[in-house]
Amino acid sequence: MEYQLSPSILAADFGRLGDAIQEVEAAGVKWLHIDIMDGQFVPTISMGIPIVSSIRKLTDLFFDVHIMANEPSHLIEDFAHAGADMITVHAEACAHLDRMLNLIHQYGCRAGVALNPATPVCMLENILELADMVLLMTVNPGFGGQIYIPYCTEKIRKVREMADKRGLNLDIEVDGGINRETIGTVLDAGANIIVAGSAVFSGNIRENALVLKKMMEK
Ligand code: DX5
Ligand code: ZN
Repeated sequence: MEYQLSPSILAADFGRLGDAIQEVEAAGVKWLHIDIMDGQFVPTISMGIPIVSSIRKLTDLFFDVHIMANEPSHLIEDFAHAGADMITVHAEACAHLDRMLNLIHQYGCRAGVALNPATPVCMLENILELADMVLLMTVNPGFGGQIYIPYCTEKIRKVREMADKRGLNLDIEVDGGINRETIGTVLDAGANIIVAGSAVFSGNIRENALVLKKMMEK
């Protein structure tokens, strides 16, 4: 299984975004987590399509776009053209999740399904085979720098078990409150894609990314 650190640029200094991206690349990172918020599904607004297309010109990193927006079907084409490699939508935000995942694939992107902490993993029952990745939120989405919610660990175990039972090579991404203290727990539970915002972009970016990557090698 592929293990990747996916630094969330939500925690970066947007005035120096290009420099921040160079720093994570210098640490050997391959993925970049890009949080899109609509001010409806989550309380606040983060960034949109112009930022994704601007940074697409700067890097070949794998763009892991996490859309926190209600009914985002009208946005998929634009994000795909802006350079998204993976597009993840929230199960809670899509009335027609099956159709949404197919739509993402039609635009040539990998498709992910995200679940909020309070959403049970049984939501995945019928669509697991349609998803390339499951993103388990380990904080309530909307803001960086929050504290990991402990009951989410069991959800990671359950999804890994579901995938193994079906013989699926599923990526399980965790997002929220992951740092040097919590990363071991989520890896042990079965996560293989690790989002980290403040734990990467506060302080020495390159060193932070190197430390977390090293912890993932064990
Ligand atoms: C929260 C976002 C996260 C956020 C994580 O809604 O989805 O990706 O940037 O930030 P940290 O790692 O600081 O909890
Ligand atoms: Zn995210």
